Amino acid sequence: MQSTPVKSEQIRFAQKYDYARAVDYYHRFNRSPRKRFLNWLEQCMAKRGLTMANMPTHILDIPSGTGRFWQTLHHNSHVKLHAADFNSAMIDVGFEKRDAQLTQKMQGAVASAFSLPFPDNSFDSIFCMRFIHHINLEDDRMQLLRELARVTADTVCISSWIDDTGIKAQSRLKKEKSRKANGHYDKFVHQHQQIIQEFTNAGFELIGYTDLLPHLSPWRLYVLRKKHITPPIKLSTVEYVCPLCKGTLTNDLAQKQFTCHHDKLAFPMHGKLPMLTQRDAIKLT
Ligand SMILES: C[S@@+](CC[C@H](N)C(=O)[O-])C[C@H]1O[C@@H](n2cnc3c(N)ncnc32)[C@H](O)[C@@H]1O
Ligand SMILES: [Zn+2]
Repeated sequence: MQSTPVKSEQIRFAQKYDYARAVDYYHRFNRSPRKRFLNWLEQCMAKRGLTMANMPTHILDIPSGTGRFWQTLHHNSHVKLHAADFNSAMIDVGFEKRDAQLTQKMQGAVASAFSLPFPDNSFDSIFCMRFIHHINLEDDRMQLLRELARVTADTVCISSWIDDTGIKAQSRLKKEKSRKANGHYDKFVHQHQQIIQEFTNAGFELIGYTDLLPHLSPWRLYVLRKKHITPPIKLSTVEYVCPLCKGTLTNDLAQKQFTCHHDKLAFPMHGKLPMLTQRDAIKLT
């Protein structure tokens, strides 16, 4: 298999969640009053994002992790929510442990945010929470943002650590400066001006932003609108495309896999989840 050009797809955090760690992540935000308060603030921030994005109804949550935002994103009964993450264990745990009334209406897939297996303009909005602060390389951030711009028909809500949010961001930036050059780091504070420029270069304009806890927390949620908006597809069931060539996939029910005849690749199923990444693809002979 060809190696992926996305360096951030190889970084340690992308692989770190096996089943036990995914269960640990599920419980992490319920472990102490401080964590519960932080999670509550983050849900409030996501709700403000939904309002700024005009209450979208066809939503992609990537990376969904274990589904921390699923309840919030289901802001009314017409919402169609699709979850995607690079690690199947994270989605498995979310589908097992979250409210079945929610999850039975949802679709899920294993996917990379850098090469999404969805057609252009598939969703009204994409939520991308706690992801881009892991990505230090501008080229990789651009690849992510261009994919989000391709797949949304309207808005993207994306959270990150940002330099001008207050004391916590400043102290994290100080720590970043004193880090050893050869150490492995997977979380970064981005500069507001630079990230806005990157959003623009990827084809977005800024609707607005909202901070988790002004002056104290480094988290900010940006709400972006695609510059050239197109009518969303709004299918009740999301259809997939090949994550590499974006061509049609054949759903081979007997073999329990999706096939791209152009690339001669098969994408296997993991339970009910199609595994639509270059990492999981099997070369057809
Ligand atoms: C910090 S968690 C955030 C999950 C969720 N948004 C939340 O806030 O709870 C980061 C997630 O990114 C996922 N991930 C890592 N690399 C990815 C990639 N290339 N594409 C999609 N998800 C990825 C990990 O599996 C993990 O679930
Ligand atoms: Zn293909």
